[in-house]
Amino acid sequence: MTTPTPPATLTQDELKTLVGQAALQYVVPGEIVGVGTGSTVNKFIDALATMKDQIKGAVSSSVASTERLKALGIRVLDSNDVDALSVYIDGADEIDGQGNMIKGGGAALTREKIVAAQSAKFVCIADASKLVTALGKFPLPVEVIPMSTRRVIAQFAALGGTAQVRLKDGQPLVTDNGQHIVDVTGLQITDPRGFEAEVSQWPGVVTVGVFAFQKADICLLGTPEGVRTLSY
Ligand code: 5RP
Repeated sequence: MTTPTPPATLTQDELKTLVGQAALQYVVPGEIVGVGTGSTVNKFIDALATMKDQIKGAVSSSVASTERLKALGIRVLDSNDVDALSVYIDGADEIDGQGNMIKGGGAALTREKIVAAQSAKFVCIADASKLVTALGKFPLPVEVIPMSTRRVIAQFAALGGTAQVRLKDGQPLVTDNGQHIVDVTGLQITDPRGFEAEVSQWPGVVTVGVFAFQKADICLLGTPEGVRTLSY
C-alpha cells in the first residue's frame, strides 16, 4: 500500500522568497525603487539584482539594506537627491485588513516611514502569519531620543501598555539614526491613525511603528496556496 504524498508545505523562508520575487512586477523599469528592510526585503533585493540593469537604482531605508544592495551591484541614491518614487517595497510585522501596519521589528522604522512617504505606492510583502484583524499583538516599536525614554515608557503605561528598551548585547540597541527603540506590549490599536497621530507628537518620540498615514496600498501575502494580492 502506498502512502499518499502529503501536500507540499512551504516554509516561512520559502514564502518570503515567493513574495520577494512577486514584488518585481511592481518595479518600474527605468526608475528608482524604494527599498525597505528585513528578511523578506532581503529576498526582494536578491530578486531585484536580476533586473539591476533595467533600473536607475534604489533609495534604501537602512544601512543593512544599503550594504546588501551595493554588494549586488545596485546603485543606492540618497533620498534627498530623488524627487518622488513610484513604488516602495517593504515588509511588515503586522498588517490589518485596511493596510495599516506595525513596522520596526528590524529597528528601521524611521527611514522606512521617510521613504514610504516619498513613494506613490507602498507594496507590502509578507508571509501570511503577518495578517491580523487588529494591530497590537506584535510588540510595537517606537524610536525615541534616549533622554525621553523614561517619560515615553510612563506615557505608554498610562495607556495600559508595557514598554521596554530594546537591547542588543546587553546594551540599548542604537538605531541607524543614533537613537533607541522601546517595544510596547499590551496595547490594542483600534484606531491606527488616531494612535499614530497622538504618539507621534509626544516629546522625544522620533517615529512610532504604526504605519497608518503611510499604509500599504497593496500587500503580496505569501500563503501555502501561493501569493495572494490584497489591494486597499
Ligand atoms: C524593519 C521592518 C520589517 O519590515 C519588519 O520587521 C518585517 O521584517 P521581516 O521581513 O524580517 O519579517 O519593519 O524595521
